[in-house]
Amino acid sequence: MSRLSRRAFLGTSALSAAAAQSGSSPRPVGPNSRITIGMIALGARAHELLEAIKRNQGTEIVAVCDAYKGRLERAVQRTGGRAKIVADYKEILADKGVDVVTVASPDHWHKTHVVEALKAGKDVYCEKPLTYSAEEGLEILETVKQTGRLVQVGSQGMSSATQQQAREMIQSGKLGKVTMIRASYNRNTASGAWIYPIPPDASPATVNWDMFLGPAPKRAFDLARFFRWRCYKDYSGGIATDLFVHLCTTIHFLMDAKMPSSVVAMGQLYRWKESRDVPDTINAILEYPEGFTVNLSSTFNNQLAAEGSFQILGTEGSLLLGGGGFTFHPETALEDNRWIVESWPKKLEDAYYQDAKVQREELPGTRPPQVMPTVQTYRERGLESTIVHFQRFFESVRSRKPTVQDALLGHRAAACAHLINRAAETRKLVQWDSQKETIRA
Ligand SMILES: NC(=O)c1ccc[n+]([C@@H]2O[C@H](COP(=O)([O-])OP(=O)(O)OC[C@H]3O[C@@H](n4cnc5c(N)ncnc54)[C@H](O)[C@@H]3O)[C@@H](O)[C@H]2O)c1
Repeated sequence: MSRLSRRAFLGTSALSAAAAQSGSSPRPVGPNSRITIGMIALGARAHELLEAIKRNQGTEIVAVCDAYKGRLERAVQRTGGRAKIVADYKEILADKGVDVVTVASPDHWHKTHVVEALKAGKDVYCEKPLTYSAEEGLEILETVKQTGRLVQVGSQGMSSATQQQAREMIQSGKLGKVTMIRASYNRNTASGAWIYPIPPDASPATVNWDMFLGPAPKRAFDLARFFRWRCYKDYSGGIATDLFVHLCTTIHFLMDAKMPSSVVAMGQLYRWKESRDVPDTINAILEYPEGFTVNLSSTFNNQLAAEGSFQILGTEGSLLLGGGGFTFHPETALEDNRWIVESWPKKLEDAYYQDAKVQREELPGTRPPQVMPTVQTYRERGLESTIVHFQRFFESVRSRKPTVQDALLGHRAAACAHLINRAAETRKLVQWDSQKETIRA
């Protein structure tokens, strides 16, 4: 296993920024050649990414970089001692032997890591949310255009068999006209509210505080901020960028939708006041020009609605989608005007029920059996979605075909979160400029 000295860990890299930015021409990855991977940030999610990468043949993790020593040691162990630890992510970018970079740093770092990696000629797999602000998304899109490199964003749900089946069903028209979607993400535990345990060996000797802060405002060393960064606006957009991004990616995928035109939202911090400056409860309404409205809600104070659950409501049926699959419920509502016509003169009421159409549609028990409700259930099967998401990304790296969740899709999903946060903070309706792909001023 690679050993990591304190000097190498905390010291400045020997490489200058200029060397890393020099735009070394990328090594072509042939259809059968091995894809080499450098991982920037090896936190909790990146360890899951690492295991998913290992399940993809023809790939090798060659270098890892992180701001906490303990996670690097564990990562190297997970690669069987093969990955090299580097003190500065710029060393990964300057290494011509690295084809692909994964970015799983805290959100305030994503844009910098992605843009620099693209400029260094790497293809990038970046965790959601792609950005910390909508403006950052435009910079990433521009860099993709200039460099021709690939970006795949890590909202892996759309690579699950469940979401692919659900999309097929919705696109086939089985739900009729979908005009409303409800999606929620509720939790009621400290860990669900991001109050994660802090490793007992964490200290200025094992944690590189300046590396973590990067573009964020300067502050004194603070382990809570380092390990629970989602709770603070300096590094995260809270519930919207952490959870709603997944919901919006899925909705855009299922509905073939681009972006909401208008958003209103309210967010409050009701309970976990000691641990954060972001809300623990948000309700948002997103209006889509494709002809439907979305209600997003999340609270960390009750867990009745399961994690990431959706209700997609159409004129002919509803699709209830959760982690382990979905159910389709056909609409069975019968016309019923009894309480109206009972107030008419008796002979008009009697005449009303002589009408064949009324008899067919309003008299119970007369509905033909073929339209009686049948609930259809789909249970998730197949490989875990992150493994498949990487499989599809590596196929793009080899074929140079567009990725399944490219920078534009990632920018839009993250921008939904930024719209929601802007609306909640200003308590005003916020609009999207679809021409400029950014928030309307
Ligand atoms: N797709 C998903 O389902 C999913 C799930 C969890 C997290 N995520 C995303 O993954 C990202 C990481 O989240 P996490 O839960 O792993 O957080 P984490 O705090 O566990 O990991 C972040 C890691 O980044 C390191 N780090 C900080 N600054 C760095 C820098 N400048 N260079 C290198 N390393 C740096 C930290 O030391 C830490 O190990 C977030 O963007 C999060 O939204 C996605």
